[in-house]
Amino acid sequence: HPVPPPGPLAYGGTKLINDARHPFRAPGRNDIRGPCPALNALASHGYINHNGIVRPSEIVAAVMEGFNMENSVAVFTTYAAFLVDGNLITDKISIGQSTPRTGPRPPRPATAGGFNTHNTFEGDTSMTRLDAHLGDNHNFNEKLFQGFIEYSKKYGGGKYNLTVASEYRFKRFQDSIATNSEFSIVAPRFYTAYADAVLPVNLWVDGRQDDGQLDLEVARIFFEDGRFPHDFHRAARPTGTDNEIVLFEDHPIEPGRNVKGVNTYKPDYSTPQKLDDKCLQYTYHVNHTVPSLYPNPKGPLLESLKINMGYLFSAIKNTGCEEIFPYGK
Ligand code: HEM
Ligand code: MG
Repeated sequence: HPVPPPGPLAYGGTKLINDARHPFRAPGRNDIRGPCPALNALASHGYINHNGIVRPSEIVAAVMEGFNMENSVAVFTTYAAFLVDGNLITDKISIGQSTPRTGPRPPRPATAGGFNTHNTFEGDTSMTRLDAHLGDNHNFNEKLFQGFIEYSKKYGGGKYNLTVASEYRFKRFQDSIATNSEFSIVAPRFYTAYADAVLPVNLWVDGRQDDGQLDLEVARIFFEDGRFPHDFHRAARPTGTDNEIVLFEDHPIEPGRNVKGVNTYKPDYSTPQKLDDKCLQYTYHVNHTVPSLYPNPKGPLLESLKINMGYLFSAIKNTGCEEIFPYGK
């Protein structure tokens, strides 16, 4: 049976995270790392399994403990991703490449392929990873990071902050339109693109500093090395994807894709357009995205889908959103 996600932290303040009990140990040959620099750091410091194969409940616990990610955001993000990339029978997921070590493959078209899987949760316009069609979608890319630095100098006085996040997010969107013939950005990537751009502002700035101005050396340590900076203290309070809507309002985009080569971007109005509607995100995910991978589940797979969709809903149950049961109750 799936292990349920934990509730909020008992102590929600800042504290030392890069401590003696959690030293950095570089990943070895058989350790998996992937496109999320935060999960890479949690694995390399032993906040989740060092080999990169974990339960979703362990991800929730670790992003709260290590980064002070707010509980409902942690649960929502983790189960949205787990439902499309994780192994629902074994309750395990790879934070990177597909591996038989998470258990037997589900029936197609599902792959339970881990976070590297393109266009299930991972997607285009990442800040420091290439679009899948243009190369490696999970390892750090120095050339992209130079763009991140350039924008931080131009718009942030040498720091990565909300203003830089707005400009760099929009630039990456424009890059993909102009260079990636297979470019696509629809739900859920449409949401995570904005969330990912504010997380370094909200959760990578040391909790004692707490000013929304991310040092570029610290940014590199997270993005490139997947490790906690020396003496890192987590955020001062439980925090999520605050201010993502600011980025969107600075440069609104419509979800869509390049339909016939580069520079042929066409909006797709059949997918959710609104960034600040968690209920719509949830509804589209359980009615459309997950069933497109699991059209006809049976037995334990069906049971697990229902349970994990319940965990996803638990993150928004206090918002007045209606629970949906695409596979029955
Ligand atoms: C990117 C998963 C928590 C920071 C990603 C990506 C995945 C992912 C699949 C790749 C998306 C892409 O760029 O195409 C998750 C899951 C989490 C989680 C399931 C569970 C809650 C966090 C936390 C932080 C974080 C707590 C920050 C403290 C980032 C950043 C990126 C990213 C900055 C963007 C990397 C880039 O664009 O180069 N995450 N993540 N994530 N994640 Fe996480
Ligand atoms: Mg990506």
